Amino acid sequence: MCRETAPSTIILIGFMGAGKTSVGRALAAKLGWMFEDLDDRIERRERRAVPEIFRDFGEAAFRQAEHSALKELLGEADIRHGKIVALGGGAFVQNDNFRLIESAGFSTIFLDAPVDELWRRCSGQQTVSRPLLGDLESFRNLYQGRRPLYLQASFTQQTAGKNPSQIADEIIHTLDHEHKSPKRGANH
Ligand code: S3P
Repeated sequence: MCRETAPSTIILIGFMGAGKTSVGRALAAKLGWMFEDLDDRIERRERRAVPEIFRDFGEAAFRQAEHSALKELLGEADIRHGKIVALGGGAFVQNDNFRLIESAGFSTIFLDAPVDELWRRCSGQQTVSRPLLGDLESFRNLYQGRRPLYLQASFTQQTAGKNPSQIADEIIHTLDHEHKSPKRGANH
């Protein structure tokens, strides 16, 4: 682990089912950093669950709420002290969010897997409600349309056939190798 670089923030991006939240938690635990899921912040701010925001106000209103929540998060004082942030699947592909993240200068990691595996993971999660899940064909089309934008992340991490702990270890290894990673235990 690179010891010279100051603690910063790492943003996990990727499609539905990529494992952003579970990998984010594993990564934060290994590094001793804070973890935050942007969708949780949106729900707290809006006092509604994400599917309710979609149902009651539509996707455009959700995107506005998402942008405001991201802006708030990136503007907070503790953001440079070592935080892992998981974005919802559509956040990074919105141009204004992309620009906000770019100008903040944080590392972004695209968690990827074959679209059929992403579909299997999502359709197997009966307890999670995803307004944009749709059917396999629309899921595939949405993934294919977004993938070139996800590929603009600092690097891509393959997740197929790996558990969150393994994926977190591989990310730490990559960050070490690229001397991009802050030291462990920055918050503790
Ligand atoms: C969305 C993905 C969801 C959530 C919202 C919109 C998307 O998050 O933000 O339903 O546009 O792909 P997950 O990627 O965590 O499912």
